[in-house]
Amino acid sequence: MAKIIDGKALSQKIKDELKQKVSDFEQKFGRKITLAVVLVGENPASQVYVRNKIKATEYVGMKSLSFYMPENSTEEEVSQTVLSLAKDDGVDGILVQLPLPKHINETKILNLIPADKDVDGFLAQNVGNLLLGEPCTIACTPFGVIKMLQSQNIELSGKNAVVIGRSNIVGKPMALLLLKENCTVTVCHSKTKNLSEVCKNADILVSAIGRPKFVTADMVKQDAVVIDVGINRTEQGLVGDVDFENVKEIASYISPVPGGVGPMTIAMLLENTYLCALRRNNIE
Ligand code: GUN
Repeated sequence: MAKIIDGKALSQKIKDELKQKVSDFEQKFGRKITLAVVLVGENPASQVYVRNKIKATEYVGMKSLSFYMPENSTEEEVSQTVLSLAKDDGVDGILVQLPLPKHINETKILNLIPADKDVDGFLAQNVGNLLLGEPCTIACTPFGVIKMLQSQNIELSGKNAVVIGRSNIVGKPMALLLLKENCTVTVCHSKTKNLSEVCKNADILVSAIGRPKFVTADMVKQDAVVIDVGINRTEQGLVGDVDFENVKEIASYISPVPGGVGPMTIAMLLENTYLCALRRNNIE
C-alpha cells in the first residue's frame, strides 16, 4: 500500500516558514511584500482559486491587492489595470487568473507583466530561462510537485518519468523540471499511441490531463510514484486524474485529491512572490 504524500501538511509547513521570512523582509525594507491578483469575470472555479490565494497571501503576512473586473471588461481596460500594477514599485507580484474571457487575448495581457513580477512563471522569459537552466520563476504547480517528491527523499536521478499532459502551465514545465533532476522524461498527450504501456514504464508518473480517474491500476508499474495534478469537478465531488483507491494498492507513493498538489500550488505562488520581492531588491 502506497504512502500518501500529504500536500496540505507540506504546504502548511512551507507557509509557516515563509511567515518568518516575510516578516524579516518587512523589518528590513519597511514595507510589506505585495501580491496583486486580477480576476476578470465570474468563472466559479477561478473565484474559488482566487479566494484561496488571497487568504493564503494574508496568512503569510503579505499584502494582497485584488482587482475584480466584470466579464464584459474590454481588453484595453484589463491592459490598463495590469500596466498600472506593472509600473507600481510597491507591487512585487502580479497574477492574472486564467482563463480570461474569450474576447480577451491572454498572451497579450500576460506579456504586459514585467518578468520580475511574473509570480506564475508563465512568461516566455521565465519559461525560456527554465529551459536553459538559468535563474527564473518556476510555474507554481510543477514547482510544487518537485517539492512534494523532494519532501519524501524520492530518488529521481536516472528514473523513468512520464508526464501525461502538455499544457504550458503544467505538462511542459513539469517535463523540464524532471529533466533537470536527471530523469528520463516522456511527455504523453491526446495523440500518444499505447499510452497505457508508456505509463506502465514510469517510475514517476505525473498526470495533468483533467480527466476523472483516467489513470487506472493496470497503467501503473509496481512501486511507482504517482502524482495527481487533476482537479475534476464531478457529481461525486472533486476527483483527480488517478483512480486513487485502486492505484494506491500498487504505487509506492501517491498524492491525493483534494489535499495533494492543489494546496502546494498556492504555497509555491507565495514562495515565488517572496523570491520576486528578493530579486527586485537585488538579493537572493
Ligand atoms: N488558472 C488555473 N491555474 C492557474 C494558475 O496557476 N495561475 C493562474 N494565473 N491562473 C490559473
